Amino acid sequence: MEFAITLDNSSPVPLHRQLYEEVRQSILNGRLSAGSRLPSSRMLAASLGVSRSTVTQSYDQLISEGYLQTVIGSGTIVSEQLPDEWLTATAAKSGKAPEQGKQDKSLLSRLSIYGTSLADAAPLDAVEVQRPINFSIGVPALDQFPMKTWRRLLLRHCRDNPAKLLGYAAGSKGERVLREAISVYLARSRAVRCDPDQILIVNGSQQAIDLVTRILIDCGDTVALENPGYLGARRTFLAQGAKLVPVPVDDAGIIIDKLPSLLTKKVKLIYVTPSHQFPTGAVLSLSRRLELIARTAGTGALIIEDDYDSEYRYCSRPIPALQGLDENENVIYIGTFSKMLFPSLRVGYLVVPNSLSRIFERARWLADRQSPTLEQLVLADFINEGHLERHLRRMRALYDRRRQALVSALQQYFADRVTIMGENTGMHLMVKLSTGFDVDEVIERANKAGIGIVGAEIYYLKGAQPGEFVLGYANLAERKIQEGVRRLAKALR
Ligand SMILES: Cc1ncc(COP(=O)(O)O)c(C=O)c1O
Repeated sequence: MEFAITLDNSSPVPLHRQLYEEVRQSILNGRLSAGSRLPSSRMLAASLGVSRSTVTQSYDQLISEGYLQTVIGSGTIVSEQLPDEWLTATAAKSGKAPEQGKQDKSLLSRLSIYGTSLADAAPLDAVEVQRPINFSIGVPALDQFPMKTWRRLLLRHCRDNPAKLLGYAAGSKGERVLREAISVYLARSRAVRCDPDQILIVNGSQQAIDLVTRILIDCGDTVALENPGYLGARRTFLAQGAKLVPVPVDDAGIIIDKLPSLLTKKVKLIYVTPSHQFPTGAVLSLSRRLELIARTAGTGALIIEDDYDSEYRYCSRPIPALQGLDENENVIYIGTFSKMLFPSLRVGYLVVPNSLSRIFERARWLADRQSPTLEQLVLADFINEGHLERHLRRMRALYDRRRQALVSALQQYFADRVTIMGENTGMHLMVKLSTGFDVDEVIERANKAGIGIVGAEIYYLKGAQPGEFVLGYANLAERKIQEGVRRLAKALR
């Protein structure tokens, strides 16, 4: 059988995917009829000048989707039975929606590399089963937010000049008054050095990570990142087609000696959470911060510093942000109000080197143009009138009590069966429980006892450790924390 197939070596679409698509289209448009024989993988590989595994990968995919089948003695043939897709396509033509749970494969085959990466089954975040007592990660004490003050500031803006607030903003960087307030706050509390023109207001740090990735990463580029680490960042890099190099962390943060050679591996980004490593809670030591900056200088790599919950420290003084220590404009700093105030506010910020700020502004315009004006103005007042710092002071004291309640309950009920990590900062603890049960069973038993907890496994790119969990405490009253740990211990007896 003649196979008129051309593969494009310069395309970002992998060769096995191109071949898969060509064969699939030939079947769908009838050029390859049911029962016809395909060349052996060795022959096809030789005639196309590709490796045999490229061909077997495409054949295997087509077999698993029902387009091809293997027949002993005849090799690989086009299936006698048509795959579901025909049924789905007919249903769509006749105006009927495809059955729930059945994906339209012909539509899926038209996806970009980015779209394809989102179609796979890996979750974007840990699944949290809601129970009466949830040790939710990254959720601040929502019932403690000073809503009265917020409402007063909101009303003031709605009363004063409402029409001015309703049109498009002049640029995409965000309201100047908010950028000024953030630059003052960052200089004072995080030793970040920037002027308001370097700040871009975004819809939470997740959008910041997305913009950085789109602007700096091409398919096939290398990104080094902490292992374990924040899933939202990892999945964003993967969706862009980045090659990931996991770097282990210990109790002083990312291990700099384990970084890949930045030059030979052509690392473009190093993603870190230095103030409070996610999820272990380690704080990157000053010496490692300086070493990371020194190692990165002149290599072409940029550091992304995700400072998502640095405001909550309970023991020692804060260590200055990497951004403020760096003299070479090699750090992109990301912050968020999701943990300081509340996550649905969707306000975060990027601090970028001057030379990149215009590009980031343009990318933001293309993504979704701007953040809502009214909330930005309210937030600027909230910061400038001292409400933010007051709220943070209160929350620091509250979370400290909740943290202590969690630590002492764990010690009381688990004694030497628990190891607690990263307990002096943030809004969650990572713990290792020796229970004799595997992680899934622990979660199931906890859920049955009315407790929502999350395993740490999902945060590892490789080498997950057994028995590790991440317990958020910021949004749980002390007595619920105590009760939750008691029930958990009982469920695991
Ligand atoms: C390490 C880390 N970075 C970023 C984020 C995203 O926060 P945002 O709500 O600002 O998108 C989170 C959320 O929990 C996080 O844990």
